[in-house]
Amino acid sequence: MSSSEDPREKLSDAPRHRRTYRELHDGREPFFPNFLLKEWIIGAMFIVGFLIWVLLNKVGLGSIANPNDSSYIPVPDWYFLFLYQALKYYPGNGEVFGAFLVPVIVTLLLIFLPWIDWSKNRRPFKRPLATASMVLVIIMMSWLTAEAWAQHQAEVGGSAAGGSSSSTSGLPFAVQHPTSTALMATSMPGYQLFENTCAGCHGQNLEGSVGPELRGIGNVASSSQLLPVITKGFPPNMPPGGGLTNKSQLQQIADWLSQQKQK
Ligand code: HEC
Repeated sequence: MSSSEDPREKLSDAPRHRRTYRELHDGREPFFPNFLLKEWIIGAMFIVGFLIWVLLNKVGLGSIANPNDSSYIPVPDWYFLFLYQALKYYPGNGEVFGAFLVPVIVTLLLIFLPWIDWSKNRRPFKRPLATASMVLVIIMMSWLTAEAWAQHQAEVGGSAAGGSSSSTSGLPFAVQHPTSTALMATSMPGYQLFENTCAGCHGQNLEGSVGPELRGIGNVASSSQLLPVITKGFPPNMPPGGGLTNKSQLQQIADWLSQQKQK
C-alpha cells in the first residue's frame, strides 16, 4: 500500500485540532504578541510612574528603634493593615478561623476561579456576581484599613509617649502644633547636634515620633528653661540629655530649640 492510499491522508492537510484552533481565532487578537504587548506597556508605564513618584516624594526613615520604649505599639505596614484589623474580629480560638481558614478559602477560590467562572463576557455590568464580589472586597479592605489606622492613632494618643499626636499633657511645655513647619535658624551649630542626637525620637523636622512634636517650642520656652528639662530628660522615655553629656553641646541645642518659633 503506497502512502497516497493511506486513508488518513484523504481527510485533510491540516490536522483537525489545528484547524479548529485557527477557526476559533479567526479575526481575533492573538495573545502573543498583541495582548502581551499591551499588558507589558501598561506594566512598564506603572513601574516608571511609580519610580518617578518615589523620586519626587522623599520618604524618610522611621524613628530609630528604641528597646527602652515599652509603650511602643507595633503595627504592620499599611498594605497589611486590613488583615491585621480583620484578626481583631476573631477573638480567642476564632483566630484559627480568621488567620488560617478564611485566607486559605479565599486563596483556593482565586486558584480555582477559571473553573468556577466560565463566562467569556468582559463587560463589568454583564457580570454582576463577579463585579459585586470585587467591589465588596475593595470596600471591605478600605474600611478595615481606615478602621485599623483610626484605632492605632487612638492607642498611640492614649499612651505615655504621646507620639506626634495631640497628647502633650504632663509635659513642661505645651507646644501649639503650628501650621508652619519649616525649621528655623538651621545655620546654628545646635541644629546639627539636634539632628544627630534628638531627631531619632523628635523627628528630623521636629514633627515628633517616639517623643512629642517640638515645632513652635521657642514660643513657649526660652533657652534657659529648656536646658534643665533636656539635661534631666524623662527617664525612661527620654534619657537624660537625650544621651548627650557634653554641657556646651546641650546648651547649643537648647539655644537652637528656643529659636523654633513656628506659628
Ligand atoms: C529616646 C528618645 C528620645 C531622645 C533621644 C530625645 N528625646 Fe526628648 N523626649 C522624648 C520623650 C518620649 C519625651 C516626652 C516625655 C514623656 O512623655 O514623659 C520627650 C520630651 C522632650 C521635651 C519636652 C517637650 C515638651 O513639650 O515639654 C523636650 C524639650 C525634649 N524632649 C528635647 C529633647 C532634646 C533637645 C533631645 C536631644 C538632646 C531629646 N529630646 C532627645 C524622647 C526622646
